[in-house]
Amino acid sequence: MKIFIDSADLNEIKEAFSWGIIDGVTTNPSLIKKALAGKNLKIDQYLQELLTLTRGFPVSLEIEGEENGQIREEQMLREARNLYHQLKLFNPAFNIKIPVNPTLNPTEKHAFESLKVIKTLTKEGIPINATLIMTPEQALLAAKAGARYLSPFLGRIDDYVQSGKENKGIKAGVELIQEIKAVLNHYSFHTEIIGASIRTIEHVRECAKVGVEISTIPFKIIKEMIAHEKTYEGVKKFQEDMVPEYREFLRK
Ligand code: E4P
Repeated sequence: MKIFIDSADLNEIKEAFSWGIIDGVTTNPSLIKKALAGKNLKIDQYLQELLTLTRGFPVSLEIEGEENGQIREEQMLREARNLYHQLKLFNPAFNIKIPVNPTLNPTEKHAFESLKVIKTLTKEGIPINATLIMTPEQALLAAKAGARYLSPFLGRIDDYVQSGKENKGIKAGVELIQEIKAVLNHYSFHTEIIGASIRTIEHVRECAKVGVEISTIPFKIIKEMIAHEKTYEGVKKFQEDMVPEYREFLRK
């Protein structure tokens, strides 16, 4: 399983890459807001720095597509093309993140505009991460539209179900990725699932168990993945028991 860091903080991203186990980055507008808070950094300077730092690795940057208070196809296309063509020289592996559906009402005529955008941009060679996926059906539709990545949100589905909502038969985030994986295993879409909205190491474990291709994990959770009290205790005990001859031999 590939591990992406779910962060827009340049210091976190730099440090996580130095560990040698990071394969990519996902950002979203909330993470960028947090990363830029209190910093005197211009957005173009920030984006260039992010993409230069991660050159060669996939990095997701989200668009908005808002026009007169509504999310619209033409505006999504404009923003995605602008962003991609302005920044791809800094990291040709970066991709554009697009919410799978910008509307609430499925009978609204704009409900399928994201899918249309995904299809158009994919044909133009712009890789898309279809984000905010909450059901296997949304995943299937985004895969059919050509999305390079699908991002199902485990933590947010847990929140939704725990708040008493019925999620079209899906009872937990873990079940969401299991079902998506089970559906996609029957076909040969050119897409990878990114387990997203990860809140615990158990979420990561479940993603790995069902074989999702990628998990995007917050910095704090990646750190929790390596820690164990008994590992530390073992290290201390082996240090105590180290005979001086062996230690000297190791240091020769
Ligand atoms: C993924 O691509 C998103 O950036 C992220 O995982 C959202 O996580 P959250 O639900 O914890 O905000």
